Amino acid sequence: MPSQITITRPDDWHLHVRDAQALDTVVPHTAAQFGRAIIMPNLRPPITTTAQALAYKQRILAAVPQGLDFEPLMTLYLTDSLPADEIVRAHDAGVVALKLYPAGATTHSDAGVTDLRKTYATLEAMQRLGMPLLVHGEVTSPEVDLFDREAVFIEQQLIPLRRDFPELKIVFEHITTQEAAQYVAEADRFVAATVTAHHLLFNRNALFTGGLRPHYYCLPVLKREVHRLALLQAVRSGSPKFFLGTDSAPHPAQLKEHASGCAGCYTAHAALEMYAEAFNAAGALDRLEGFASFHGPAFYGLARNSGSVTLKRESWVSPESFAFGQAQLKPLRGGESLPWRMV
Ligand code: DOR
Ligand code: ZN
Repeated sequence: MPSQITITRPDDWHLHVRDAQALDTVVPHTAAQFGRAIIMPNLRPPITTTAQALAYKQRILAAVPQGLDFEPLMTLYLTDSLPADEIVRAHDAGVVALKLYPAGATTHSDAGVTDLRKTYATLEAMQRLGMPLLVHGEVTSPEVDLFDREAVFIEQQLIPLRRDFPELKIVFEHITTQEAAQYVAEADRFVAATVTAHHLLFNRNALFTGGLRPHYYCLPVLKREVHRLALLQAVRSGSPKFFLGTDSAPHPAQLKEHASGCAGCYTAHAALEMYAEAFNAAGALDRLEGFASFHGPAFYGLARNSGSVTLKRESWVSPESFAFGQAQLKPLRGGESLPWRMV
């Protein structure tokens, strides 16, 4: 087994960095590991115009430490009423994609889409310009069991959407199930998926081991072991349809450790280390570079990064918390020993 691996500098194709003071904590973590990251637009209020996205990009860049080369890739938040001509402006300004949050699906999704048919003029413009739609793939109906929401989304929303927009590029974000992995593996070249480190490392038992563990709560929620194994199989296959997206999602510790705790796992401080651990455990370290550094740029039509990063098999203890404005940020597995370390 290799004790060290060097890969082309990777990218994070799904990341939450929030705004204001939070940026000073989280942007340096991501910029230390990744060349670029797709920045999720679920601020409050959401990023729905090109002007907002460009201003947000400048605030993120201002938090990149000197000497690090990092590019935030900006997205807009799709709403029922986002005008189609905003898509043209966004495309011209270098905004790379739009994010679909079904209304009510997750953190700050109240401005999200209530009915996909309301967005069809906008999707038409995206399809024409080749701009990807990044999908939070869960239905929101309270009748559907929380653990089934992703699989039901495929049948109820994704299949009809793809029938109506066969050449719209779609990234099925942070997939968590066998059904999603299989759907994406069998789809044509217009569909890809991101996979988080935590969904590769943990099943839903992690939420309850030794007591309720809120830092393992995210959406889509962790699933059964059979689903985790299906995700590992998908990334181990080497298929270019699967690429790295941490979905690192910081929340103040007191809002995670709460009677109604927020969804989101913070992993940006040790993202590559956790992916290396998952790939190594699956005997697939040789697939990490494609997943982390090649498949994403190929799907988005961007160049690969230059430069490289090295990971070493050497255990270290992750910090228990970080200062986060006036609050604290508790990362996933804070205070625990992690087996891989970035050099
Ligand atoms: O766990 C999650 N946290 N899932 C999401 O979809 C949103 C994210 C957040 O913004 O906190
Ligand atoms: Zn997310």
